[in-house]
Amino acid sequence: MNPLHDEMKQRYKAMMASFEANDQDPYRLHFHVMPPTGWLNDPNGACQVDGLYHLYYQYSPYDAAGGLKYWGHYTSTDLVHFDDAGLALLPDQPYDLHGVYSGSAFEEDGVIHYFYTGNVKHLGDHDYITSGREQNTIHAVSYDGGMTIQNKEVVIDSKDYPAVFSNHIRDPKIRKINGMYYMILGARNRHDEGLVMLYKSVNLKDWDYHGPYFGPEVGMGYMWECPDFFELNNKEVLIVSPQGMEPDGLLYQNVYQSGYYLGEMDEEHVTFKPTSHFYELDHGFDFYAPQTFEDEQGRRIMWAWMGLPDADYDNPLDYDWQHAMTLPRVLTVENHQLMQRPHPNYQTLRHNEDRRQLQLSEGAYEYFTGKVAELLVTIEQVKDLSITIRSDVTLSYDDDTKQLTLTLGDAGRGRQTRAVDLTALNQLQCFVDHSSLEVFINDGEQVMTTRMYPKADEEKLELTGDVKGTVTHWSLQK
Ligand code: FRU
Repeated sequence: MNPLHDEMKQRYKAMMASFEANDQDPYRLHFHVMPPTGWLNDPNGACQVDGLYHLYYQYSPYDAAGGLKYWGHYTSTDLVHFDDAGLALLPDQPYDLHGVYSGSAFEEDGVIHYFYTGNVKHLGDHDYITSGREQNTIHAVSYDGGMTIQNKEVVIDSKDYPAVFSNHIRDPKIRKINGMYYMILGARNRHDEGLVMLYKSVNLKDWDYHGPYFGPEVGMGYMWECPDFFELNNKEVLIVSPQGMEPDGLLYQNVYQSGYYLGEMDEEHVTFKPTSHFYELDHGFDFYAPQTFEDEQGRRIMWAWMGLPDADYDNPLDYDWQHAMTLPRVLTVENHQLMQRPHPNYQTLRHNEDRRQLQLSEGAYEYFTGKVAELLVTIEQVKDLSITIRSDVTLSYDDDTKQLTLTLGDAGRGRQTRAVDLTALNQLQCFVDHSSLEVFINDGEQVMTTRMYPKADEEKLELTGDVKGTVTHWSLQK
């Protein structure tokens, strides 16, 4: 183990031992993973081993505006309460010194194998697309169930990637298929097209380039980040986060996208054949770089960064932290579609249930309060429906257009409108957590996720409309 690495970990631990979040902070989240201080981005290394969940994450502990990336580490026994396990990986080697970038975990025979991208930028005049940058693929291991990660080793040196690729190759994810290990990586080729590369190995150490796993695809941007691949309900799923797609009607409105293809794997050639088009995973303002893992019950769980790089809206930095994770979502494939549902363990937070009937003929008006709340609306019949959350965040549905629209005023800090086309509306499940809102639509068919910064004294949650059904409100308490 690098002694510098050990010392920095200890110093960070000592610093955090006396750290207390500012209790005046109106935006600190109650039931979401967020950095204790500093900046957070992608989920990394998510796994469950011997009952314990691990969530590592892209972390700049000393700079809420972002900077040098470490891996932070949280553990949990229930996916709802998390313990801060400190710094897991530090940028302390010549091959990762400008950032321990994103990666994943793969457990076998009691050993957790981590693969991540070591980012290095060379001094001088470079465009950093074709020169001056290294993105090494690094392997490290944990022999103590994820609490310490050691034995970093470069398994693919940046200069050994095939020449058709640019210097942007990162975010490895591993899977074992028919006794062979496969690694996918997000990539940008020299024609400025995004794609997923595939490597294979017999021992997790020696990796050979196998070819593209999928892509490039017309109209799908210049770079694909954070790929993920798994089988679910007898379908192959490929998740990617493309950069450089053009908006198309209501679709692809954010600066970068995250979405999935359903398909099949050609097991002989190990390539992906999509049987669907590209679906966005979320239709809100703040969702990027998702990562999934299979839990010990065989469920597929997904976290994403509840944020975006290079977005032109902002987040206040007054309390020296920025960004958070989404709620963990349970994924299933049903009727040729990926369904995303909030992890059921979050139901344990429900308190003070308040359930009311909505009658179409009377016109509904229901009023609740809460900065940390869940609102579940089940709909039998609807003409129109509008939910106002705290000050000026509104969710509205019109059955003539069948569009659900999310609108933010000042609370959006630059976030204004996103909308999604539905075939019908039969359920809305909203999670409100001080400065975040996640809306699960029709029991997980679609999701809209956004950060919001309402006025501290504004607590109301209001539902109006011509709608028949029920609305249930809970305050959520840990
Ligand atoms: C996605 C991403 C990854 C990279 C990491 C760096 O948000 O750009 O591609 O590994 O963040 O923090």
